[in-house]
Amino acid sequence: MEFVKVATTKDLSKGSRLKITVGGKDILLSNINGEYFAIDNKCNHMGGSLYDGQMEGDKIICPKHGSVFNLKTGKVEERGKLFFIKVKVEDQRSYPVKIDDGNIYIEMD
Ligand code: FES
Repeated sequence: MEFVKVATTKDLSKGSRLKITVGGKDILLSNINGEYFAIDNKCNHMGGSLYDGQMEGDKIICPKHGSVFNLKTGKVEERGKLFFIKVKVEDQRSYPVKIDDGNIYIEMD
């Protein structure tokens, strides 16, 4: 486990998000009221890019089938639907984030 520098705080204003690739993984970074969070970007249902979804406060809506994830924890807040049936979706992995001297680091395996 090591912390990897992925961006600077200047790259990510309050209420915004950023997609980064670390070690071949796409990670979604977000700034919620000045706090930074990181979760897997690729939706574990069918691979939707959460970065392309709508952000509402501390939540993001998968653009493919509408599952709603908490950006702070990666937890599913609401399962999306496919042909009127709720999809089977798990929580997204979240990563510890630390800020040092204006740099954003996330802990990777
Ligand atoms: S791909 Fe995200 S809910 Fe289906």
